[in-house]
Order: sequence, then structure tokens, then C-alpha cells
Amino acid sequence: MNLEITNRILENVLYRQELQKLKELEKDRIFCRHGIEHSLDTARIAMILCRENGIEINPDIIYSSALLHDIGRSREYTGKIPHHSASVSIAGQILDSINCPPDIKKSVISLIENHRNPDNDRSTPEYIFYIADKKSRLCFVCPASRECYWSEEKKNLKIEV
Ligand SMILES: [Fe+2]
Repeated sequence: MNLEITNRILENVLYRQELQKLKELEKDRIFCRHGIEHSLDTARIAMILCRENGIEINPDIIYSSALLHDIGRSREYTGKIPHHSASVSIAGQILDSINCPPDIKKSVISLIENHRNPDNDRSTPEYIFYIADKKSRLCFVCPASRECYWSEEKKNLKIEV
């Protein structure tokens, strides 16, 4: 399947710049990083969970949201702006510059905006995306697990399906 919007994001100059900026800011980070590997893990887990839960969603929306959901993280490090808000702002600029259709933009922005919201309705893609973001983390092999602020219940300490 051709992920049209996702691949336009991938080639976008602003996206690449922000991704590079984030990579540099996180190069010495001992906790989870927010590079493209994390984005793709989140997208793939979200796709599986959507299928398992009978939630119909265009995969291009899931993958686009995954690429962009943490893209504002650098502004949290440098400007203390919550990264979901910064990501919404940067994602909006990127989606406009690649001529993303308004209905897809609206869905992508909603997934980004709610990716840290534990109160999402459980029947929504927003909830699935929130869970996939957390499930993508490999706490069971993380050397910084002890210092991590996540509670023991929240950490992924076992491999699950
Ligand atoms: Fe994330």
C-alpha cells in the first residue's frame, strides 16, 4: 500500500530538520529517544491494535501521525513547551506545506494532540495511538529503567501480544 502523505512527510525539509535537531539533542539521553525508529514502532503497533479492535482507519493517518507525534520534542527540551503542543504546531506547518487534504490533517492533528491523553475514549483511534506509543518502549532491556519516571505498572516488563 502506498502511504502517500506519510512519504511526503518523510521527504519534507522541515521534518528532516526537526528530526535531525532532535537526534542531536537526544544523543546523550539515557532514557527513551524519539527518533524515526520509535515512530515506526508506534505506527506498526497501532495498526495491529486497530485491526484487533475493529477500528477502521486509513493507515496513512496512523503512519503520518506516528512520524509527527514527537517532532516537537526539541522545543520541550529548549523552550519548556509541552511536546504534544509543539508537535501539533510543527505538524500543521508540515502538513500544509505538503498539501495534505483537510480531512486527513484534522485526523492526524487529533492523534498527535491526544497522544498523551489517558482519558481518550477507548473506542477511538486516539486511545489506540496513546497505547501504541507506550507499548513501543522496550523497558525490559532498558539500562535506565531504574531511573525512569514511569511507574512499574506502566513499564513494559514482559513481551506481550
Ligand atoms: Fe512517542
